[in-house]
Amino acid sequence: MSIYLPNKATITNIIEETPTIKTFVFKPVDSFSFKTGQFIELSYPGIGEAPFTPSSDPNNKKAFEVTIMKVGKVTELFHKAKIGDCLGMRGPYGNGYPVDSFKNKELLIVGGGVGLAPLRSLIYALYNRINDFKKIVICYGARSPQDIVYKYLLEEFKKPKNVEFRLTVDRADNTWKGNVGIVTTLLEKLPLDIKQATGIVCGPPIMMKFASLKLLELGFSPKNIHLSMEKNMSCGLGKCGHCRLGKYYICKDGPVFIFDDIKDMWDIWD
Ligand SMILES: Cc1cc2nc3c(=O)[nH]c(=O)nc-3n(C[C@H](O)[C@H](O)[C@H](O)COP(=O)(O)OP(=O)(O)OC[C@H]3O[C@@H](n4cnc5c(N)ncnc54)[C@H](O)[C@@H]3O)c2cc1C
Ligand code: FES
Repeated sequence: MSIYLPNKATITNIIEETPTIKTFVFKPVDSFSFKTGQFIELSYPGIGEAPFTPSSDPNNKKAFEVTIMKVGKVTELFHKAKIGDCLGMRGPYGNGYPVDSFKNKELLIVGGGVGLAPLRSLIYALYNRINDFKKIVICYGARSPQDIVYKYLLEEFKKPKNVEFRLTVDRADNTWKGNVGIVTTLLEKLPLDIKQATGIVCGPPIMMKFASLKLLELGFSPKNIHLSMEKNMSCGLGKCGHCRLGKYYICKDGPVFIFDDIKDMWDIWD
């Protein structure tokens, strides 16, 4: 059977997160499971295919969720999909987050915009064994209050005793009473042993760049910063070379990389 032949998954629910972001709940036709941080190639028959990281709890084997921001041709078509539509899916691909290596550590999770999608899956994976981690600080930034994803879950995210959740928007409106400023403004006075702590960053390239530089400035070790890298992809399998980052293929060797391993590559933030 061709490695490019997709399996099928049916949309069972659609959640409108923001004016440009929707979460699709899928029931896979065949059995499907993924590790948090791995990605799938989702296809609309006859139209196109694009990579997305499931945003749901990896422990849920009956359904999975994908949160999609509308940015271009393929994502616009996904946004037109209806409950009951059947889409193609290949994968999961890539390495995912090394959750076991986070055991007994203090974690800082930094997300921007739709970058909270892969991180939501990570948050579920961590919360499933929350006592394994000393402390978790989650910092999330969105462009405006209406661009915040998973608003209905934020109170849940704050519940564990060893979790601190910080939220900011770049631009406030008259309903907003919280922090205003880009996500790096949340990275002050962190209640963490910075030298030993692990940082996990996911968001648009510009946000990843400045968040990573800020973590280094604060004293995080480059070996302890994990980045979810994105590049245009095609095969998803390490065959076509579209996703090359220096000596790595993001699809095969990533998408989660340790900053120290990729910091010297000139196109890291492209
Ligand atoms: C491993 C991986 C996981 C991803 N997970 C998610 C996710 O969970 N949710 C989500 O909304 N998006 C995710 N993306 C990004 C998503 O794949 C792209 O937004 C999508 O491919 C754009 O397709 P399009 O045809 O709609 O846009 P296009 O018409 O191809 O492009 C429109 C604009 O989007 C930019 N763009 C295209 N591809 C990417 C890309 N891969 N990353 C960033 N910008 C891009 C283009 O440069 C252009 O400016 C992920 C990408 C990768 C590589
Ligand atoms: S997408 Fe083809 S090699 Fe990575």
